[in-house]
Amino acid sequence: MFIGISAYNHESAVSLVDKEGNLIDYCKEESLSRIKGDRSFPRRSIDRILKNNNIQAINIERIIFYEKPLSAYLIPLKIASMYIPQSNSFIIHQLRNFNKASISCFIDLAKYFPGNEQKLSYIDHHLAHTLTALTYSNIQKNICSIVVDGFGDRSTASISYIKDMHNIKEIWSSEYPHSLGLFYSAITDFLGFNINEGEYKVMGLSAYGNKDSRYAKIIGKLINWDDCSNKIKLDLEYFSFYKSIIDSYSKNLIYLLGEPRNPFKPLLPKDDDFQKYADIARGAQDITIKILIKIFEHAYKITNSNIFLFSGGVALNSASLDSLAKLDFVEEIIVPPSPGDSGAAIGTGMYGYLQSTNNKTNITTPSLYPSKYSASEQSDQIEKLLSNKFRLITMNKEESLLITSKLIQKGEIIGTIISNSETGPRALGNRSLICNGLNKESVERLNTVIKNRSPFRPTAPAMKLGIAKKYYCLEDALITSYYSMTATCMCKENSISRDFPVTHVDGSARIQIVKEGSILDQLLDLMSPKGIEILANSSINLSGDPTCFDLIDGIMVCSLSPLEYLLTDLGLYQKIIK
Ligand SMILES: [Fe+2]
Repeated sequence: MFIGISAYNHESAVSLVDKEGNLIDYCKEESLSRIKGDRSFPRRSIDRILKNNNIQAINIERIIFYEKPLSAYLIPLKIASMYIPQSNSFIIHQLRNFNKASISCFIDLAKYFPGNEQKLSYIDHHLAHTLTALTYSNIQKNICSIVVDGFGDRSTASISYIKDMHNIKEIWSSEYPHSLGLFYSAITDFLGFNINEGEYKVMGLSAYGNKDSRYAKIIGKLINWDDCSNKIKLDLEYFSFYKSIIDSYSKNLIYLLGEPRNPFKPLLPKDDDFQKYADIARGAQDITIKILIKIFEHAYKITNSNIFLFSGGVALNSASLDSLAKLDFVEEIIVPPSPGDSGAAIGTGMYGYLQSTNNKTNITTPSLYPSKYSASEQSDQIEKLLSNKFRLITMNKEESLLITSKLIQKGEIIGTIISNSETGPRALGNRSLICNGLNKESVERLNTVIKNRSPFRPTAPAMKLGIAKKYYCLEDALITSYYSMTATCMCKENSISRDFPVTHVDGSARIQIVKEGSILDQLLDLMSPKGIEILANSSINLSGDPTCFDLIDGIMVCSLSPLEYLLTDLGLYQKIIK
């Protein structure tokens, strides 16, 4: 057995891989701690995974960490030292927090799982991303891997050639601080959204922006692709993340764009300054796509591969994939369901397996629901909570689905906490809020009243493959991504789908094609004859909280929001409203 850990930078997570290279469990620390984006050492997740699978820590062969800590610590320090005295506070902070960086993984393992620290080894960060993507690819030989994130332990973007899973060679990289991921995060910060969380909002906001506007053009000049060196070039004058611990952008950006948006003021389409911020977001989105195209073109030139794995935090930018798939040399793009750092724990665990064997057979594609959970493990607590606040409508599974489908037809919103959980960040039906995707009032209620999301963010539609083909321009290169909701696509010209409430203002939608036999597929089977072919699907959580993991989290969401119905493994429940 092998454990892969990602921690200390973004969302911490743990994977468990068996001796045959199967992902058998996965857990994000935020799911258990209920702290959004928890980046602490994932002791709860390790503990849970060991208990879930009846494994003693002693039986773990190797534990692998998802980056090389010394390199990840020293490179930012080295760059900051070039900007003394402006970077003094950054350097002092780094030195004082040496023991809080990822270098402390060894110490934390020794503290919480004594004796196991000796099993710890490290993997290059971009190799961890590559192996995660490779795990989800049907083709695992003679393909190209592209990783683009904020900062790995050496670089901010890389291209590798995968001859086979034991023979992966990095052949290009772009160096810190010239980072597409950190550029997008700095603009996210300028627009008043939280870094590592608000990037989705920037992506959603960009659809309202004008690509020819003054602000979009200004943003498009702050980062570019240098055709001479084939590297990403960030205009460092406008950014501060490499020399300041507090500021991601510099005063020069404020001189250029005016005051940053007040994060404490809601941003509404009717506001006077809405268009300005939308134009800035549009500029950031357009230049991101432009640079990604350059990276893909360069990758094709140096690898001659038509099949691309794409991972790293920037691969979460689902709106860029449609443009990449349209490049004439692209045959397929595989994006893992969780392409960011938390998902990298999966490739990290796989590395342990690959190091233990010369067996070159393929890795089996993991389930889209790898986090083990069964409601029976909390049965006593759940029984008390449910009996006090909920009415059991039915515990029969078929009847639960039938009644759920009728409630959805009536315009109701249903929360689901069913079986194992998704890798995240997309809910695919097991930890979802769902309603009729064609009912405007239901979709708006789900988005604003229950989730309290910004009104400019769209809600994703879920449907069967045949329906997706009917309404949307699907790219063959992205078919696997539509199943894990990692890519957007455009509505067909003159299609009624342009008026669906789940369609974004620019005619795009982040669609989910439902897997055959999944809970959403079964519900669509029941509702299609009644004309409901599309469900709106969003993760079940309250704004700012992590997605629900267990049934108690689901009960909490019901208790603290207007959500009334919960579809669970124990049956269909309705909240008692007093
Ligand atoms: Fe990363």
